[in-house]
Amino acid sequence: MKYKLFILSILTFSILFTSCNSDRNQSIGDTGSDEVSEAKLDSLINLMTLDEKLDLIHASSSFTSGGIPRLNIPELVFSDGPHGVRHEHGRGWYALEDADDEATYLPVGICLASTWNTDLGYDYGEVLGNEAKERGKNVLLGPGINIIRSPLNGRNFEYLSEDPFLTGAMGVGYVKGLQAQGVAACPKHYTANNQETDRHNIDALISKRALHEIYLPAFKDVVQDGGAWSIMGAYNKVNGQYTTHHEYLNNTVLKGDWEFDGVVVSDWASVKDTREALLYGTDIEMGTELLRDFNNPVYAEFYMANPAKEIIENGEVDERFVDDKVRRVLRLMHRTTALTDHGPGKRNVTEHQQKALEVAREGIVLLKNNGLLPMDKTEIKTLAVIGHNANRRFAGRGGSSQVNALYEITPLEGIRNLVGDDVEVVFAEGYEPYYDESLFRGEGGDAASQSRENREDVELARTANEDLMQEAVDLAEEADAVIFVGGWIHGHEGMPWGQGTYDAEARDKLNLKLIFGQEDLIRQINTVNDRTAVVLMGGSNVEMENWLPATPAYLHAWYPGMEGGTAIAEILFGEVNPSGKLPMTFANSHEDYPSHSIGEFPGDGTVDYAEDIYVGYRYFDTQNKDVIFPFGFGLTYTSFEFSDLQVTKQEDKVIVQTTVTNTGDREGAEVVQVYVHHKEPSVGRPIRELKGFEKVELEPGAAATVNIELDESAFKYYHPEELRWVLEPGSYEVQVGNSSRDIKLSEEVVW
Ligand code: BGC
Repeated sequence: MKYKLFILSILTFSILFTSCNSDRNQSIGDTGSDEVSEAKLDSLINLMTLDEKLDLIHASSSFTSGGIPRLNIPELVFSDGPHGVRHEHGRGWYALEDADDEATYLPVGICLASTWNTDLGYDYGEVLGNEAKERGKNVLLGPGINIIRSPLNGRNFEYLSEDPFLTGAMGVGYVKGLQAQGVAACPKHYTANNQETDRHNIDALISKRALHEIYLPAFKDVVQDGGAWSIMGAYNKVNGQYTTHHEYLNNTVLKGDWEFDGVVVSDWASVKDTREALLYGTDIEMGTELLRDFNNPVYAEFYMANPAKEIIENGEVDERFVDDKVRRVLRLMHRTTALTDHGPGKRNVTEHQQKALEVAREGIVLLKNNGLLPMDKTEIKTLAVIGHNANRRFAGRGGSSQVNALYEITPLEGIRNLVGDDVEVVFAEGYEPYYDESLFRGEGGDAASQSRENREDVELARTANEDLMQEAVDLAEEADAVIFVGGWIHGHEGMPWGQGTYDAEARDKLNLKLIFGQEDLIRQINTVNDRTAVVLMGGSNVEMENWLPATPAYLHAWYPGMEGGTAIAEILFGEVNPSGKLPMTFANSHEDYPSHSIGEFPGDGTVDYAEDIYVGYRYFDTQNKDVIFPFGFGLTYTSFEFSDLQVTKQEDKVIVQTTVTNTGDREGAEVVQVYVHHKEPSVGRPIRELKGFEKVELEPGAAATVNIELDESAFKYYHPEELRWVLEPGSYEVQVGNSSRDIKLSEEVVW
């Protein structure tokens, strides 16, 4: 389906196209140019038979929903994914060989969130929108905005944060940047898809308060502030009902309270019941558990195809429910095509690769530095780069977010490019991935591979390799400095993406222990060379107590995208001053997290979110529990001072003003984080909650005054019995700092 054809077909609507809103500061819909009159939609719907209407609300191939050729209404074309437009499937369920689908591979979602730079969120969406459009896609299945509840969730790398405010702020930028290109965002997975184990059936038991304070706000933000044109339901249940057709979540909250007029797309095969899907808000059914034969799919068998026809014709469900879905689908089609100056899109252009680099530079987090970094290449003759991940490419794996990257610069390549011929770089793999089923939770065979590299003939169970370890330690001993690159991986060569993975769909990690013998390896390297910097990849942290104390420097790189190796090298050698901040708390063990110590993970049939609103730092800080690195933390090569906090209350908002000064001797960026705390609440409330932030870039010696506005909602809580947001009168502390554990200044404000 080519984009031009799509535009032509939609002209049937006889809609007058006006100007486009590509200004990042305006919310979608401001100009009215993307709105189509309801009367026009109704007259089009009146022309349709029931069969035709149903064709529009279920899949017609792996990544398209149906069109109506008789009325020149085209199919909608979907694509994953959150950090790069996924490889082509054609109409089938397996990756196409030799497709023209190489794409920009951006750093993953959690790396984007670590930038705390909302402009980059917009730019990121803009890159994806352009590449999706160039490939003829109408809906991009992202951003992933589920809250990071446990560090073990296999998809944390795709998500943004443990904090709803940060998730919402970054998600809104992404959605606006994407949709300004005429491609619909599809924020996912709505909602409480916080684990992969038993994801198709697990029933998350969550209080209304936790839903509204923790799990729903980011979705509300991307709908109301971002103007998302579609949203994806999740696989799991919440409080007894499947989220994809959830009466409360879809009808009451999303389409009722939030006035969402877009499309609820199912996750692939998340519809489980025709009647519920018709009544409780599902608008398009994609994928289905009813599809037994991937080679001969019969789309008419989908829940929202023939079975829907049957119960409408027998009067069980009124046809107007279908009409509402069709209206939404047509509205989405209009929105993705009507804005005339969207242009043709572009792919694999230098500016996209440059954006991937910028996000990596700002998203990689420096967590420890005893003075080893930045390294000075003129002082190093031999540099040992050690670790399998130094030479590994990540784009093609991780599940549905896989990307056929145009290229991917590994850390080893990035380091070699940067130091050039002046430094001898020696490499040792140090450890090798091996497959051990007992290291995972979840369904190994789920979602059989669609990977073009899927080979079965690999040896899956090897143990840590003593020879590789010895070779690496010997090299480390001889070198002037060592860069160790390790951490998590998405999966194993030759394995289906749903199997043998750590950061990927359908599996959760079993614990946070460093895999493949890396902990031993780092410890041994530290004993022979005290100039060792550790760089870890991964969608979460690892246990650190046994290796961090003796390690001079540690950089967390997440999965930093196609230019990740360049950014890692630039930070290690001081060409870039790190400014990333953790979007999740790094505690030592998964057992320390409230989802494990108070609530359940992964549960058994049901999972009790007994920690309630105390997720991440809301728990660690309120309970004063030790963590290794707190939420919002990240080091830099310069230093900053916060001063002159003024908190001014106006009628319905509070203005927080503070001055940040770069007191060091090099340019850098700091994130001003604003937390709010009610001093004597009548119900339990966290000791602090993030309600505003801003990243400021400053020359050495320079100062900037930052103004952050907090509206009333920043001070409200969701009343557990009255089931509504309440602004409780009283005295609030407004805390300003550069991590949740480093509050520099605070002032009181009274409501
Ligand atoms: C994933 C979604 C994805 C969809 C389509 C599902 O398995 O949960 O995130 O967008 O597949 O690939």
